[in-house]
Amino acid sequence: MNYLIAANWKMNGSKEFIESYLSAINIEDNPDVKMLICPPDCYLNDINSNAPTIISRGAQNLSTSSEGAYTGEVSSEMLIDHSVEYVIVGHSERREYHNETNDLVAIKFKRSIEANIKPILCVGESLEQRQRGETFDHIRDQIESVIKKDMINKSDRYVIAYEPIWAIGTGETATPDMANEVHVFINQTLYDNGLTQDNNVIIIYGGSVNSNNASDLFKMSHINGALIGGASLDAYEFTKIYNVAEEINNE
Ligand code: PGA
Repeated sequence: MNYLIAANWKMNGSKEFIESYLSAINIEDNPDVKMLICPPDCYLNDINSNAPTIISRGAQNLSTSSEGAYTGEVSSEMLIDHSVEYVIVGHSERREYHNETNDLVAIKFKRSIEANIKPILCVGESLEQRQRGETFDHIRDQIESVIKKDMINKSDRYVIAYEPIWAIGTGETATPDMANEVHVFINQTLYDNGLTQDNNVIIIYGGSVNSNNASDLFKMSHINGALIGGASLDAYEFTKIYNVAEEINNE
C-alpha cells in the first residue's frame, strides 16, 4: 500500500446517511491506494454488512480491557467481530475531552496490535506548542511513549497520523512543506528508536484535508495519505480525495 485514505466520521452519521453515502461511492480495487471508513461503533454493523469489501472497516476507539464490567466500552474482540482492520488511537479530541494520556494510548496501541487490528496513532502539536518551538519534542514524546521497542518493527501493523491540533476542523491546513517536515521527523524518530530500513511505515496527514489541498499534500515525499474528518462526510468529496491519491500513485 502506498496511500491510505481514511474517513474519520467522528460522532456523525445515521442509518439513512450510510445508505446514501455508500451508494455514492464507486471505486475500483487498488492494492496501492486503500480507502478506510471509521464510523461510530454503533454503525459498524451497517458498514460491515453494506460496504464493498474493498473498503476497509475502522473504529475510532477501543477499550484497554478485553471483556467484563466496563460500562460503555467496546473491546478489540468486538471490533474484530465487525471485520475492523484499523482503529484510531490517541486522537487529539480523545486526549483533550476524555483525558487520554500517552500511557493510556500506549495500552490501546499495544492491545490493538495484539488483536491484529492496525492502530492509527494520532500525534500532533497545539498552536501554542508550535509557537514555542516545541513541535518536534512533543511529537517525539508522543511516539516514544506509545510505540515501545518491541513493537517498533511491526511497522506493517500500525499507521501514524500527523494531525496538528490547530488544523483540525479549522479550515487551516499545514502547508505541504510544513507537514512533510514533521513526517520526515516522525520517520527519523522511528529509525532512531530501532526501526530497520526495510520496515517502512505509513504516515498520513490530518487537518482540514479536502479535494483542493490533497494533491499538494500527497505529492510530498513522506505523506502517505490522509485522515479526513469534515470532508469525509461528503461521499463525493471523499471519493475525489481518494481519486487524487490514485492519480498521484499512477504518476
Ligand atoms: P478534519 O478532521 O479533517 O475535519 O480537520 C481531521 C481529524 O480530526 O481526524
